[in-house]
Amino acid sequence: MAHDCILRIQHLSKHFGGVKAVTDIDLDVDTGETLAIIGPNGAGKTTFYNLLSGRLAPSSGSIQFKGRDITGLPPHVISRLGISRSFQINNIFTEMTVRENVEVAVTAQRREGGRWANRAATNGAVQHEADALLTKLSLAHLSDRTAGTISYGDKRLVEIAMVLATQPELVLLDEPTAGMTPDETGRVVELVRTLARTGDYTFLVTEHDMGVVFDLADRILVMHHGSRLALDAPAVVRANPEVRKAYLGDEAADMVEPA
Ligand SMILES: Nc1ncnc2c1ncn2[C@@H]1O[C@H](COP(=O)(O)OP(=O)(O)O)[C@@H](O)[C@H]1O
Ligand SMILES: [Mg+2]
Repeated sequence: MAHDCILRIQHLSKHFGGVKAVTDIDLDVDTGETLAIIGPNGAGKTTFYNLLSGRLAPSSGSIQFKGRDITGLPPHVISRLGISRSFQINNIFTEMTVRENVEVAVTAQRREGGRWANRAATNGAVQHEADALLTKLSLAHLSDRTAGTISYGDKRLVEIAMVLATQPELVLLDEPTAGMTPDETGRVVELVRTLARTGDYTFLVTEHDMGVVFDLADRILVMHHGSRLALDAPAVVRANPEVRKAYLGDEAADMVEPA
């Protein structure tokens, strides 16, 4: 089967004054693949996401999504086209239930799509969609809990439910396991892997935990000082001497022997 290219990035750069946060990145992402983006702090990963999600306009270069040039489009348009990025935890409404949080995200998506019809019927459909998502993410047992009272790991999973509620094709996850216990990390890895297997989603995942990276990634993009240092299969990246050099310290050890 020919690989469809969902995302094509050419010569993408973002400079803040003299700081070259992202420099001349070329990248083709295949539909359905999971691509991990790694690199030391300051490598440009977050800036790269901000360019893809439209929060920042590039200094130069282009971004094509499903063959359409989306360079410089505003975030709400990019989101509507099918690129969604994980929310920060403070975007969860702590006073509302878990289900209500997901309903808000489903409702926002429907409003964007202009699909308001009969209000009562719509409310039922929103609830149904939210429940289906919560079941898909094994969060159904928490549906009626106040979101502020659930564990940190569960909150991050609810965030992912809210991302999926926007019906994205390309999902950008920014350190989805940061601050999690090993158990919680395992749940996120399993979830992303299960979702990836459906073929419905393409994932970009930035992550510090090399065990997670090597568990999930079909390919790894290594960023260093804003540039593309390597782009290859995990085993090839792991053996790359330049990558090891960029990862002096603890992470070098993790790269050699992923947890
Ligand atoms: N809004 C900004 N203004 C100025 N410099 C920035 C801004 N955002 C990021 N940078 C700089 O760009 C570089 C890349 O940062 P960032 O994208 O946050 O890296 P990472 O997410 O890989 O840690 C860093 O040197 C950072 O200080
Ligand atoms: Mg960052």
